[in-house]
Formats: sequence, structure tokens, C-alpha cells
Amino acid sequence: MPGKLQDRVAVITGAAGGIGEATALLFASEGARIAVVDLTQAAAEGTARRIRTAGGRAIAIGGDVTVTADVRRIIDRAVAELGPLSILVNNAGVDLEGRINIVDVSEEAFDRTVAVNLKGPWLMTKHAVPAMIAAGGGAIINVASLAAYIAASSAGYCASKAGVVALSKVAAVELAQHNIRVNTLCPGATETPMARHEREKLLALGHPTASDLIDRMSVFGRMAAPEEMARAMLFLASEDSSYVTGHSLNVDGGWLAMSGVRKV
Ligand SMILES: NC(=O)c1ccc[n+]([C@@H]2O[C@H](COP(=O)([O-])OP(=O)(O)OC[C@H]3O[C@@H](n4cnc5c(N)ncnc54)[C@H](O)[C@@H]3O)[C@@H](O)[C@H]2O)c1
Repeated sequence: MPGKLQDRVAVITGAAGGIGEATALLFASEGARIAVVDLTQAAAEGTARRIRTAGGRAIAIGGDVTVTADVRRIIDRAVAELGPLSILVNNAGVDLEGRINIVDVSEEAFDRTVAVNLKGPWLMTKHAVPAMIAAGGGAIINVASLAAYIAASSAGYCASKAGVVALSKVAAVELAQHNIRVNTLCPGATETPMARHEREKLLALGHPTASDLIDRMSVFGRMAAPEEMARAMLFLASEDSSYVTGHSLNVDGGWLAMSGVRKV
């Protein structure tokens, strides 16, 4: 039986690990050909190799989503080596400010956080869209965060993720005429290298226990697995969501619903 993404070409950024890697593996298992993008070719190659070992098709591309020349090269290689591009997942993201408040955070950390999280998806979209129009359309998924809606992290991270939600809405309206749908995934706390790093920082700042922290972030008392984000991305990338565009999908284990509420 053909997969839900049979013979489609997907570019997935930040796919060396975490949510991006899980998404690349799932999309490949549904028949897509994957351009695995991360900061270095070596980092991206691990995921590409796992896809090929499982019988799928993937190439690894090293590049920085904030650099125009890199972004052009990423799109050009994906199309030249895999074929017409119809799926873009803007997943690469960083949280470089730590839990430092607005007064103390460095300008460099703020600028880099905003550049990767907000400029990156814009720049990738700008250069991928002509290729997607040539392919007859497709789907763009921008990965924001529940931090777009609540002050779950520091200023640059939360503000950049709120910006991603707005970016997706503008792109959804502008690109509908080209048969391109654009949606946002807002993950809650997900068990990845980024989340582990964040949890260690909070514990170092005096939060009582890791389980207490997790209880504040999910009604399920656990973090999400990266695969649970990947399955939501599959919905947004496939024809299952053919009438969904400009939408922000929270996959947050009830975090937003319980914000400010004592867990019962
Ligand atoms: N883990 C969570 O709890 C969580 C929650 C909400 C949102 N998110 C978002 O989900 C996305 C994936 O997060 P994750 O937890 O898997 O993180 P991760 O750190 O495991 O993976 C992010 C990847 O992006 C890559 N990357 C960073 N800067 C890049 C750049 N300039 N160009 C290309 N690649 C770059 C990194 O090398 C890394 O492999 C991010 O956008 C993150 O903000 C994560």
C-alpha cells in the first residue's frame, strides 16, 4: 500500500536529532524522499543513514538556515538530487538565552535566538516557494512552541515563536493561490536534547524535582516523545489535512489548558 507521502520530496531542517529526526524517519516510512538538513553535513548524515538503512531514500545537507547562500544551496540540492519539492518542515530552533531575564540576557544570545527561530523559517520559505510552485504546490510546517502563547521561556525564544505563528498565517494567505498550505506546530515539553538541557538549567536554578517540573507542563505527568510531534507533522503534511491552513496545532499534553490552574 502506498504511504501517505508516497514519492513526495521533503526538506526538514534541524533533523539531526530530536523532533526533526523523528519526523524525517516517519515521513520516509510513509514514502517521502527526505533532505535531512542540519548545521553540519556530518550531523545530518546520521539521520539520512538511518533512513537509507530502513529502505528509504535520503540525503544529508549541512547548512545554516539563517544564511541565504546556504538556504539556496539546500533547496537546489534537494530538488536536483530528490526531485520536485512539495514539503518543507522548518523545525530548526535554538533557545540560547537560558533562563536569564530581559535585563541580563546578552544582545548576541537574543539576536541569534531570533535569527534561527524566526528569520530561518522566513528565509527557507522565501527560497523554497518557487520550487514548490514549480512542483504544483504542497505543505509548509513551521515549528513554533507553546512558548508562543505563555511565558514558558525567555523573551527572545517566546517572542520568536509567537512570530512564527504570525509568519505562518501571512504565508498561508499569500500562498493559497499556489496550492501551498502553511501551518504551525506548537509542541509542549518534548523529550529531546533541547528539553533535557532546559530541564538541567531549571534544576540548577533551584526547582525542586524534575517530576514536579513535568507536572506543571502536562496533565499526563510525562513529556512527549518526539514521535508524537512527528505524527502531528504527518497530519499537517499529508492530504489528511487538505482543508487546514493558517492553523496552529498545539500538541502540548494539556499544558495550555492547565496554565494557571492547580492540577486536580
Ligand atoms: N523539545 C521541546 O520541548 C520543544 C518544545 C517546544 C518547541 N520545540 C521546538 O521544536 C524544534 C525542535 O526542537 P528539539 O527539541 O528537537 O531540539 P534539538 O536541539 O534536539 O534539535 C534542533 C536541531 O536544530 C539544529 N539547528 C540549530 N540551529 C540551526 C541552524 N541555524 N541551521 C540549521 N540547523 C540548526 C540543531 O543542530 C539541532 O540538531 C525547535 O524549533 C524547538 O524550538 C521544542
